[in-house]
Amino acid sequence: MSSVRATVLGQERARGRNLKLAVGLLLAVLAGPGVSALDNGLALTPTMGWLHWERFTCNVDCQEDPENCISEQLFMQMAELMVSDGWKAVGYEYVCIDDCWLASQRDENGRLKADPKRFPNGIQHLANYVHSKGLKLGIYQDVGTHTCAGYPGSYGYYDIDAQTFADWGVDLLKFDGCNYKNLESLKEGYRHMSFALNNTGRRILYSCEWPLYIRPFQQPNYTEIRQYCNHWRNFGDIFDSWNSVKGILAWTASNQESLVPAAGPGGWNDPDMLVIGNFGLSWEQQITQMALWAIMAAPLFMSNDLRHINPQSKSLLQNKDVIAVNQDPLGKQGYRLRKEKDFEVWERPLSNLAWAVAVLNQKEIGGPQNYVFSISVLGKGLGCSPACHITQILPEKKELGLYEWTSHLKVRVNPTGTVLLKLKPIQNESGCFQLPHLR
Ligand SMILES: *[C@@H]1O[C@H](CO)[C@@H](O)[C@H](O)[C@H]1NC(C)=O
Ligand SMILES: *[C@@H]1O[C@H](CO)[C@@H](O)[C@H](O)[C@H]1NC(C)=O
Repeated sequence: MSSVRATVLGQERARGRNLKLAVGLLLAVLAGPGVSALDNGLALTPTMGWLHWERFTCNVDCQEDPENCISEQLFMQMAELMVSDGWKAVGYEYVCIDDCWLASQRDENGRLKADPKRFPNGIQHLANYVHSKGLKLGIYQDVGTHTCAGYPGSYGYYDIDAQTFADWGVDLLKFDGCNYKNLESLKEGYRHMSFALNNTGRRILYSCEWPLYIRPFQQPNYTEIRQYCNHWRNFGDIFDSWNSVKGILAWTASNQESLVPAAGPGGWNDPDMLVIGNFGLSWEQQITQMALWAIMAAPLFMSNDLRHINPQSKSLLQNKDVIAVNQDPLGKQGYRLRKEKDFEVWERPLSNLAWAVAVLNQKEIGGPQNYVFSISVLGKGLGCSPACHITQILPEKKELGLYEWTSHLKVRVNPTGTVLLKLKPIQNESGCFQLPHLR
């Protein structure tokens, strides 16, 4: 476990602050996305739930592997555990099916049907069961002629499929982008399905992969995507490895100018599932994924086996302080503030003028490393003015105490690990942080 020792190194008085400039920057950060979201009242904070793909992939062999194949039993067991093991209580709500649930053909009326062997009671029955637990059911389809795994796609059937999902009581649709005809029909398909879902009158959360599929050919228009989708994948599938998590973070940081302004209540960038509790990430790397997914205001879809999960990973995934950062009602996505040698500092503005700060040590050799930085660089220079209270959230909770704007903070971070902090400004009579005109 990494440990943090924070010390006040500098005590010099603040001077030469260009308050006007700083307030301008702050206002820019606090302003909402300049873009309206899909108007279905959903995903006002990032969606939380469980999604089968990374852990259970397209395992359809219930003969050989009945415990782990994609079947109604798997989702019923997960729903049960989400309630009995405290997942629902901390906010995980959607139990989501990914690819490989379908029969190989539509029925005689052109409607989708689930594989009759693996889902003998059908999706409506499963939805009723999930609802009886106070949870919501997510399903998967594809904008093209076939899903990525080769099952019947929604192309040409958008209205019928949306109505089928609504009739079954589905609450979320993950809409993949494999096997589309051409770019125009891909975009048209995503728009069409958004209208089709709306036309059913049932509020169905709409999870898109639109930017991921068009990015090789053109810059995604997030203003438009946000009008149609509640979240959207930008980057390839996550794998159960540090390389994969690291790649997603690096890609996100290098595209943050276009990604960050697109996120806000009702619409989020989706860096894909949490793989915490599986096989590929060390403890430090699991902490890093949890901390950075909170900073990125990412949907939190666990893909793991809730029947077999170690207590440490479970407590990380259920950590209320990290979840509170992820679910912060201000709804602003964080960004990478600086990269210095092996250290990265990320920050995210939170409600009540607080900030979350993550310090990540990318070095993959050696032991814990110290990183010292001036608090005045955080929160656009105003986040901690004139002083703030700092709480360490990860790797374990610790009150670090009061820090002046001019002090330095020293954190000690294990290789590939992260220290996650929350800064709360102290307001006093002279504190510029009262800024009544901001409210
Ligand atoms: C459909 O869209 C309209 C207009 O944007 C919105 O007011 C309504 O709540 C939506 N209905 C559903 C079920 O999403
Ligand atoms: C992006 O989409 C919006 C909304 O549909 C549109 O007004 C705008 O012109 C588009 N921008 C570009 C560069 O195409």
